[in-house]
Amino acid sequence: MNVHGRHYRTIWLRPGDGRTVEIIDQRALPHRFVIEKISTVAQMAAAISEMHVRGAGLIGASAGWGMYLAALAIFSNARSRTADARLAEAAALLKSTRPTAVNLAWAVDRQLAAIARGSTSRAKISIARETAALIADEDAAACRAIGGHGLPLIRRISRRKVGAPVNVLTHCNAGWLAFVDHGSATAPIYAAHDAGIAVHVWVDETRPRSQGAKLTAWELGQHGVPHTIIADNTGGHLMQRDMVDLVITGTDRTTRTGDVANKIGTYLKALAARDNRIPFYVALPSSSFDWKMRDGLREIPIEERGSEEVKFADGLLVGANGRAGRHAEVLIAPPESPAANYGFDVTPARLVTGLITERGLCRADEKSIVALFPEHAVR
Ligand code: MRU
Repeated sequence: MNVHGRHYRTIWLRPGDGRTVEIIDQRALPHRFVIEKISTVAQMAAAISEMHVRGAGLIGASAGWGMYLAALAIFSNARSRTADARLAEAAALLKSTRPTAVNLAWAVDRQLAAIARGSTSRAKISIARETAALIADEDAAACRAIGGHGLPLIRRISRRKVGAPVNVLTHCNAGWLAFVDHGSATAPIYAAHDAGIAVHVWVDETRPRSQGAKLTAWELGQHGVPHTIIADNTGGHLMQRDMVDLVITGTDRTTRTGDVANKIGTYLKALAARDNRIPFYVALPSSSFDWKMRDGLREIPIEERGSEEVKFADGLLVGANGRAGRHAEVLIAPPESPAANYGFDVTPARLVTGLITERGLCRADEKSIVALFPEHAVR
C-alpha cells in the first residue's frame, strides 16, 4: 500500500544485500515512519515479541524471514553435526515469541520442512530464502483476493443506502500493516473505496496498545478512506442507532469449526452485532486457520502481556500552542494498582455471520470451511 504516495510492503529483503531484512517499525506510527534493519534471528524474535511487527500475517512473514536469517548464519559456516540442532533452536526461539497467532508456528514449520529438503548447505540457504519470499508473496496475494471476495458484501449494502456511505466497524488493526500488503479486514474496504463506493469506517481505538487509533486510522488516512476513531465501548451504542451496517474484523487464529480468536474486545462487538442484527464477518487468509483445533474457547492459547501496557498510554506531548512535541509515556492508573492484560478473546462461531477467505466466503462452521479447503478434510 502507499505511504506518502510510495508503495511499501511491511517487510522485505534489503535490495542488493541479501543478508538484511527491513521492516516498518510499527511502534513509531502514526507519528514517525521508521524502517528498521534486522540481520539475525534473535533480532527478529525481539521485533516480534516487542511488537515492532505485529498482526497475524506479518508475524508469519517475519518468522519466515527469521528462519532465513537463521539458515544463513548456520549453514554459511557451521559443521553439519550442530547445524540441525541450531536450526531447531532458532525455530523454538521464534515460536516462543507470541502464542496466539497461528501463522507464526505455521511459517516456522513450513520453513523447517522446506529447508530439510536441501541436500547441501548452499541449497538449504537458497530454499530458506525462496520459502520466506513465497510466504510473504502468498500472504499479499491472499489478502488481495480477500478484498475481491468481500467487495460484493459492501456493494450490496451500498445499493440500499442511496446517497449515504456504508458504515463498517472494525476492531484493532487487520489492515495492511498486520499483513504483508492489503490487509484482511480492510481489504474489502479498500476494494470498495477504489471501486468508487462511498464507505466510512468506525475505527475502534483498541486499548491497551491502541492499534486501531494508531495504525488502522493512519493507514486508512494514507489511502484516503473516510474514517472516525471511537473509544472501545462505543460500538454497541452506534449499532443500536443504525450507524453500523457491517462489522469486519481480522483473526489471529480460527479453528476448523469457525471459532475466532482476535484482539481483546472482539467478542463484545460480536455480541452487540448479533443483538442488533448486524452482519459480523471475519476476514482471514487460510494461514490463520488452525486445522487441528475444534474448540476455540478451550484450546486457543491467549497471550497475556505486561500490565504496563494497560496502566500507561503513550503519544506525542502537545504544547499550549497546540504544537505536537516529543513522544512520551504517561501513567494513567494508580501506580500501586495491579492490572491484567489479556491480549485476545474468542468469539464463538455461532456469533460469526461468515468468513471471507482468499477462496471466497463461507459460513463459520466446519462443513462450509472444509468445502472451501477440501485438502483439510479429515479422512
Ligand atoms: O497483538 P496484535 O496487534 O499482533 O494483534 C493482532 C491484531 O491486530 C488483531 O487481533 C487483528 O485483528 C488480527 S491479526 C490480522
